[in-house]
Amino acid sequence: MKLAFIGIGNVGFALADNLQKKGHDIIIAHDNVKSSSVQLAKQKNPKFNALPLQEAVNASDLVFLATPFGINQSILEPLQFHGKTLIDCTNPVGAGISHGLESKTSGAEKVQEWAPDAKVVKSYTIYGYENLIHANFPNYNVKPVMLIAGDYNEAKEQVFPLNSDMGFETLDVGGLSQALHLEHMTLLWVKMVRANGHHPNFTWAYLER
Ligand SMILES: NC(=O)c1ccc[n+]([C@@H]2O[C@H](COP(=O)([O-])OP(=O)(O)OC[C@H]3O[C@@H](n4cnc5c(N)ncnc54)[C@H](OP(=O)(O)O)[C@@H]3O)[C@@H](O)[C@H]2O)c1
Repeated sequence: MKLAFIGIGNVGFALADNLQKKGHDIIIAHDNVKSSSVQLAKQKNPKFNALPLQEAVNASDLVFLATPFGINQSILEPLQFHGKTLIDCTNPVGAGISHGLESKTSGAEKVQEWAPDAKVVKSYTIYGYENLIHANFPNYNVKPVMLIAGDYNEAKEQVFPLNSDMGFETLDVGGLSQALHLEHMTLLWVKMVRANGHHPNFTWAYLER
């Protein structure tokens, strides 16, 4: 698939590099080709292409959003998505690793509000970027699980094969309002690892009987 990335820092690069190595075409969607993260990403993976934001969205099958949450509204409102899937990898994080929207609504629902002609799927936020570089846990016979949420089944169906390519099992947890709970899972992971010193290379698994 042709995958556009708005934001190619820790998260964007980890996902883009992983997916490029699985055969996908990566287009960095930038507002400034001289940005340090765009330059670094292209240096680290010369197979990445880069285009201005709207051109990258137009040229892609699916778009990833991996930017600081606070700039999402200004990036998204001028863009046209023409019904494309927009994967929201961003998290509204507030003071003291709290929910940045005071748990009243999810960041993903705000993203959907700012990009009304996109089909938003929340994914890739419940772990740090360290687990997006690859998802190999060779000592276990279960795969790490990636939880996704969104209101459009056809959009979520596009995310399943990408997760399989990266080595994740996918669990669809429901509509986009469920993203609020995923964002709290993020805060749990972030607090454990970034604040309390837990090892970053850990994920959750889904066991059912
Ligand atoms: N870090 C993690 O482990 C992790 C895990 C899951 C989710 N998240 C969430 O993912 C998001 C990104 O985190 P990160 O750690 O990857 O951040 P990061 O390393 O700071 O990368 C942010 C990216 O957004 C780009 N950007 C900033 N303003 C832009 C604009 N106006 N137009 C286009 N691109 C723009 C930056 O480009 P420049 O270089 O030009 O500034 C950079 O490529 C955040 O919302 C975070 O909460 C983080």
